[in-house]
Amino acid sequence: MIVKTAHKCYVTNDKGVKVIDTTMGSGAQIIGHNNQLLKRIGGQIERGTIYSILNCHTEHVNSYLKRYINPEFDEKYIFCNSGTEANMRAIRLARAYTGKKVIGRFHGGWHGGLDGLLEEHPDNKGIPSETDSLFKVLPYNDDKCFEQITSDMAAVIVEPVQGSNPRSDIKSFLQKLRDHCTKTGVLLIFDEIMTGFRLSAKGGAGLFAVRPDIVTYGKVLGGGFPIGVVGGKTEIMKTKNVFYGGTFSANPLSMYAARVILETIVGTKEINYDTLNSAGRVFRNELNDFFMEKHLEMRVMGCGSLNRIIFTDKFIRNRKERDEFEPRDAQTTFAKKLQELGVFVNGNGLYHFSMAHTPEVIKDLIRLIKIAAKDL
Ligand SMILES: Cc1ncc(COP(=O)(O)O)c(C=O)c1O
Repeated sequence: MIVKTAHKCYVTNDKGVKVIDTTMGSGAQIIGHNNQLLKRIGGQIERGTIYSILNCHTEHVNSYLKRYINPEFDEKYIFCNSGTEANMRAIRLARAYTGKKVIGRFHGGWHGGLDGLLEEHPDNKGIPSETDSLFKVLPYNDDKCFEQITSDMAAVIVEPVQGSNPRSDIKSFLQKLRDHCTKTGVLLIFDEIMTGFRLSAKGGAGLFAVRPDIVTYGKVLGGGFPIGVVGGKTEIMKTKNVFYGGTFSANPLSMYAARVILETIVGTKEINYDTLNSAGRVFRNELNDFFMEKHLEMRVMGCGSLNRIIFTDKFIRNRKERDEFEPRDAQTTFAKKLQELGVFVNGNGLYHFSMAHTPEVIKDLIRLIKIAAKDL
């Protein structure tokens, strides 16, 4: 699939074939491709796209985040250009603040292509085992993880909702994780690159009412432009002598985009969480009813507008169980079938709905998925 143009929730390939887009820039484009706000954001191009000097938008973004999203956090955030970069900085900050090295991370999680976070990935060549030894892989959504989170660790990083098994029944696990980290003096980092400004205006932290010590954002906040953000409690953010800089960090185009997105979220105009969540709910309910009625070994799991079809009828607690029950090629075979029917599903298997996925589009998508499923 080579895309030539994108509009609303559709992408058109180089041969002129238009398909429903379910990845929406890996979740980054929550309003819809080629939307009205992009034209406004594009106005920044005339005022300059790169200064490498402080720009006037950054303070607005800081103050929106302080006022509406994380009032208990420091008023200054660290800005960079990708989720991967934000997590690298968050991990560095956690190590600098605590003076400890080991970071806990969960099996089935994704925090970007950083050395040390790819041990289970098939493409993990070139990473010295010494790097891997600075991370501890923990079982996700499983209380057994708590005995492995020990006071000698700097931090634990977790996606409030993992893309590999997106679910809304995770609140009590996150609460226990929060309590355990507080008790052991281990920092809790929420990687909200995917969930931030998607599950709710306040991300997974807001939805589940669990507060991390450090948070990272990306994707939606950039409005379709590259961004990564780190924020946290003041005493942590004030840690001295931690390096964060970069040529494109806090560039005026990405910062203006973030400012416009935050204005939109606060004003509940172009982004409306009830609308987004309703698209996800209809998608899950209708397809799960259909899969059960037809005795298909398929289910939809998800949380809000973040969804995944799994190829088993069993309840799965985490990615490990998904791997046990799901046939290895099921995701790619199904994605190929859907593409023939006019639906693009990304290699990561995630369905990210946007404001452009109207009830009519969702209905059509459900119809096409039913055709593809019956054909399996
Ligand atoms: C939860 C999470 N963290 C980090 C990343 C990495 O972000 P980026 O691809 O912008 O580097 C991603 C990207 O998919 C993600 O979903």
